Amino acid sequence: MKLSALTFGLALAGLSHTALSAQAVDEHTYANLNDVISTHLHLDLDVDFADKQLEGFVEHTLAWQNKQARTLVLDTRDLEIDKVMYQGSNGKWYPASFTLAKRDDVKGAKLTIRFKQQAKKARIYYNSLPQASGLQWLTPEQTASKSHPFMYSQSQAIHARSWIPVQDTPAMRVTYSARVNTPKDVRAVMSADNSGALIKDGDYWFDMPQAIPPYLIAIGAGNLEYKEMSHQTAIFAEPQILDASVAEFNDTQAMIDKTNAMYGEYAWGRYDLLMLPPSFPFGGMENPRLSFITPTVVAGDKSLVNLIAHELAHSWSGNLVTNATWEDLWLNEGFTSYVENRIMEEVFGRERAVMEQALDSARLRTVVEELPAPDTRLNLRLNGRDPDDAFSTVPYTKGQLFLIYLEEKFGRKVFDAFVKGYFDAYAFKSLTTAEFVQYIEKHLINKHPGIVSMDKVNEWIHQPGLPADAPNPTSDAFDKVDAATKAWLAGNSTLEAIPTTSWTVHEWLHFINNLPRDLAQDKMAALDQAFGLTNSTNAELAFAWFMLAVGNGYDAIYPALDKHLSGIGRRKLIVRLYKSLVANGKRDWAYEVYQKARPGYHPLAQGTIDAIFAN
Ligand code: BES
Ligand code: ZN
Repeated sequence: MKLSALTFGLALAGLSHTALSAQAVDEHTYANLNDVISTHLHLDLDVDFADKQLEGFVEHTLAWQNKQARTLVLDTRDLEIDKVMYQGSNGKWYPASFTLAKRDDVKGAKLTIRFKQQAKKARIYYNSLPQASGLQWLTPEQTASKSHPFMYSQSQAIHARSWIPVQDTPAMRVTYSARVNTPKDVRAVMSADNSGALIKDGDYWFDMPQAIPPYLIAIGAGNLEYKEMSHQTAIFAEPQILDASVAEFNDTQAMIDKTNAMYGEYAWGRYDLLMLPPSFPFGGMENPRLSFITPTVVAGDKSLVNLIAHELAHSWSGNLVTNATWEDLWLNEGFTSYVENRIMEEVFGRERAVMEQALDSARLRTVVEELPAPDTRLNLRLNGRDPDDAFSTVPYTKGQLFLIYLEEKFGRKVFDAFVKGYFDAYAFKSLTTAEFVQYIEKHLINKHPGIVSMDKVNEWIHQPGLPADAPNPTSDAFDKVDAATKAWLAGNSTLEAIPTTSWTVHEWLHFINNLPRDLAQDKMAALDQAFGLTNSTNAELAFAWFMLAVGNGYDAIYPALDKHLSGIGRRKLIVRLYKSLVANGKRDWAYEVYQKARPGYHPLAQGTIDAIFAN
């Protein structure tokens, strides 16, 4: 899809709220946006747990861009299309002819709909299939309540098309409304106004009056109760985890208030959280008005709540100002990681924020060594690959370090004003990296000459690896951890002498991540005995310890590791463990665990881990 300047002008004149990016070339959509743009979707869906499918119709309201055009091309993947109807200028409905092309492995199947006139609306009657890449269907046994089934969507990056026939590109935006039917004792919620879901009766309505890119359309359904945390925030969760989640996340309102003050008023009304089952493949997903959250961050001590700061930050970077293509993902994730950390500093203090920077940047430096150099550029080149296959920490932490670099060069006052101005200028719009470069040149670099050159900006954005003068965040607390570790490893001190009782989870993570991978068995056993690491209830800490133990051949972890891998589907906490097991001679054991755990994993996680065992 390539949008000409002319189209952009037309789109702006007639349809300013669609706000198409002038320069977007999204290789991951079949949509013919130059001809026609869908401006509103209405969904009418039954949630069928028995057949693991959504069934019903979507109605597109169409804004024609080209006088000659009579064709609407939509993205689909593994959908069954029953029929298509359209509304003509006289208000009457007619059948439309359509063809569904052969499925492409990455993009799915192109749906071409032909009208006899420029239809005002088109209704596609369809159902999803049980293997929909953007949905997970869970049996009651796979949930916290064990009594009700659960289903949820994960549309980013290109999975909305597996449950809605849609122009599936972040270059465009739609408003949406929905009617959703479920079994009576199951509540459905969406990334929308959820007031039509507060009475649990199996019949729900939703309205999303602000235009969003299709990857932010989201649905969840299960044994969900809700509890208010503040005037603006509530949690939807299975009753078994509701109170613990409220206790963990009760700083959410403070996070919103601080972000409002820094970057301008929150644009979306309410900000609620939906707690998902542990198989959710991500930490969180910034679905507007309703972030989706893994239960693995409910640690009991708020140690992992930067995840909430992150998903909330997307309400500005990502949901308000959106990457136009998936090659521009850093505009979403880099800005969000930066804003996340600013929120953490405001709410939890500078020391914690810097520790989080240091942990992430240490990880980035390893990843930059491991990845093929071209994939360490901020402005990715996907070359037809599935965006999921090029997913890494680079757009996140390299993007964040770039922004920290600019903040340090220009000073907070100037840089904060720039970021706020950028969010204002592109609110409810999408942009490419090239457009961002033009924007920053005009509004920051040239406005304050002699501080940072455009060559430096382009180095950050287009060159692999990290610039030599990239920030390298360090923490005093971590320096102390390093000194204690060194003394113990050299035999100059005992474990008891390390002041671990005052350590936060962050110090523990730094400690474990920096222990050598050739530690003797007796040292591993001593650590485990002193600190009970194998039985850690903090999922991130457990992951770090298991990585160390697998690398060191410390076998006492295996029963606990089995439980970890079978109980959690979050890719960040399992994928590297499977890889390390295979690399460290434990392939058979890992494969056995995987066979047992696989049915409980999300299709995305299954795909990632299948690939580990495929060679
Ligand atoms: N939007 C992402 C998740 C995502 C990115 C899904 C790209 C599909 C494609 C979400 O906001 C995210 O980044 N989650 C992180 C949070 C962490 C960095 C605090 C995660 O899931 O770990
Ligand atoms: Zn994110």
